[in-house]
Amino acid sequence: MKSGWGIWGASLGAAVLLLGASGARAQQAPQTAKQEVLDNLGPHPAPTQPIPYSHKTHLALGLQCQMCHTNPDPGSLMAFPATSTCMTCHASDAKDKPAIVGLAEFAKSGQPIPWVRVYQVTPGVTWTHRKHLQADIQCIACHGDVSQVDAMAQITSVTSMGSCIGCHQAHNAPTICITCHAWPSDQPPAR
Ligand code: HEC
Ligand code: HEC
Ligand code: HEC
Ligand code: HEC
Ligand code: HEC
Repeated sequence: MKSGWGIWGASLGAAVLLLGASGARAQQAPQTAKQEVLDNLGPHPAPTQPIPYSHKTHLALGLQCQMCHTNPDPGSLMAFPATSTCMTCHASDAKDKPAIVGLAEFAKSGQPIPWVRVYQVTPGVTWTHRKHLQADIQCIACHGDVSQVDAMAQITSVTSMGSCIGCHQAHNAPTICITCHAWPSDQPPAR
């Protein structure tokens, strides 16, 4: 188990063990505005981004998440910011810094900035931000305190099944397999 919650075999026995452990942990977690999933104990280097954007610098200015991350239909994704949002400030702020010169070039080209994805749920697993936002789960519950983060990395284990289920148990959200897997609940895929 050293390598964290993300490593999953197909053993249902192991699954039951893990569900029990994560449920006990989650019950102690406060319900509001706190990180609810475990830190990612495995290595999680930050990818190199096309522009060295820092959440720490920008959240210290008092900016809200939703200024940059909206939840467009159908609601699975929190979008990456439009470059024009950055340029509302950076048309003047720090405009001679090399990173901001690069930012202005992206803005002029009209191409979206090719941000490298940090968190990604295994393809095929059913995921949506929308249901979680509607249930009043805060960003910090799953992503941790990003206001302390310069280069974004997978600081929490939110993409692992143990984290999903631990929180679902704590909030009385559904935990039957078909909530998140398209295959029938009593038949995990053959490996
Ligand atoms: C001024 C714009 C801005 C604000 C405000 C902002 N972000 Fe971001 N966020 C970005 C940009 C740009 C990226 C892509 C670069 C990166 O990963 O650092 C990003 C990436 C992320 C990612 C990683 C996405 C992935 O690839 O998996 C998370 C998680 C995130 N933001 C959460 C938050 C949260 C939570 C808040 C509020 C507390 C917030 N952000 C506020 C601009 C912003
Ligand atoms: C219930 C847990 C949870 C909550 C709450 C949550 N996220 Fe996420 N977030 C995730 C997961 C899981 C992913 C990876 C999703 C994927 O693979 O598309 C993700 C991905 C992202 C991404 C990358 C783009 C995308 O949508 O895949 C951004 C940006 C992001 N989250 C920002 C936020 C912000 C801002 C908030 C609060 C408004 C928030 N998240 C709330 C779990 C959560
Ligand atoms: C509300 C205004 C505002 C918005 C919106 C904003 N920034 Fe900034 N940004 C700042 C300020 C202020 C600084 C600090 C400038 C300084 O240190 O001189 C900064 C610093 C930076 C730096 C570091 C520059 C350097 O080398 O010192 C980068 C890179 C950056 N921002 C990128 C972005 C990106 C990308 C976006 C859009 C996702 C964005 N900013 C949105 C105000 C903003
Ligand atoms: C921090 C707590 C938390 C985490 C972490 C979390 N969830 Fe949820 N999830 C909830 C809550 C609460 C609901 C809302 C249940 C409701 O509306 O009755 C929900 C609802 C859902 C739904 C909609 C269920 C339905 O039938 O409407 C899906 C799908 C889902 N979550 C998948 C995931 C996946 C996949 C992960 C992990 C990648 C995950 N969740 C992580 C708390 C969480
Ligand atoms: C709340 C969401 C959720 C529920 C409920 C859930 N899973 Fe998962 N499951 C996931 C996520 C997320 C992953 C991907 C984990 C990773 O990549 O580390 C996963 C991965 C798996 C895998 C690895 C193979 C694959 O499909 O990628 C198996 C096997 C699995 N789950 C079985 C089950 C079984 C059996 C149940 C019912 C007892 C169940 N899961 C219920 C979210 C869930």
